[in-house]
Amino acid sequence: MSSLIPLEDEYADILLKAMRGRRIAESELSARTGLPLELLSRLCRGEFCDEPALLKIAPVLSLDPQSLTIAAARAWRPRLHRVAGLEMFRLGWRRLWVNAYLIYDSSSGEAAFFDTGTDSVPLVKRVEQLGLTVRYVFLTHTHSDHVAALGELRAAFPQARVLCNHAEPWPNTELFTDEDSFSLGSLSVTPRTTSGHSVGGTTYVVDGLSTPLAMVGDALFAGSMGGGLISFEDAWRNNREKILTLSDETVICPGHGPLTSVGEEKRHNPFFAGEFR
Ligand SMILES: [Fe+2]
Repeated sequence: MSSLIPLEDEYADILLKAMRGRRIAESELSARTGLPLELLSRLCRGEFCDEPALLKIAPVLSLDPQSLTIAAARAWRPRLHRVAGLEMFRLGWRRLWVNAYLIYDSSSGEAAFFDTGTDSVPLVKRVEQLGLTVRYVFLTHTHSDHVAALGELRAAFPQARVLCNHAEPWPNTELFTDEDSFSLGSLSVTPRTTSGHSVGGTTYVVDGLSTPLAMVGDALFAGSMGGGLISFEDAWRNNREKILTLSDETVICPGHGPLTSVGEEKRHNPFFAGEFR
């Protein structure tokens, strides 16, 4: 499903997100680590990997040193996750990629999308191949790459309910709060607000397949996290408290990059691994 999908963030992206989020400029990082500014600039551009330097930088940025050096050595990626009833679509967006997901209950044939990506054609085709009935389109957040094909998807499945967090309303959608939950045949979908990357960013926990799923949008990536565009502190805390407290086997379905799991992120994500040692 996602074996060849590269990680969304390299170690330089992780450094820059942590510096931005913790409001630590290169000059301050240089002063606090004793590392030359020029070396830090080259590290932040991902030009080379200097393990001793990264071990000095990590604690200043509240990153886990071991996970950061492993990321810099490109020595970890999540294992391949396959879940019956879960389909991932990786869709082009400008020169980047964005993920949309389909889940379905095989006994009832009821289905739901999470985000739309940028092209409805492969999504509609798969629904037709599997003979499914689309009941819902859930939005994790409303950044353009995640909702670009919503109009096309509505036209293809006019009976589907389109759901959006009340804190981040989108035209012609039904709004929900964290008190709501949804059923899909024998599956359940429970939203929990994981704001910070966006104002109403939502993680949907799906129960009823062979393993629980968490549709996290851009809150969390394999080995990294989304930019804290609204609030890094909220984004970090929500990831820590509302996603990484799910059971270790929960498969995380991010808006960019490969599938991962709660257990793997607790061990290998430089933003969080130190919390779980
Ligand atoms: Fe986003």
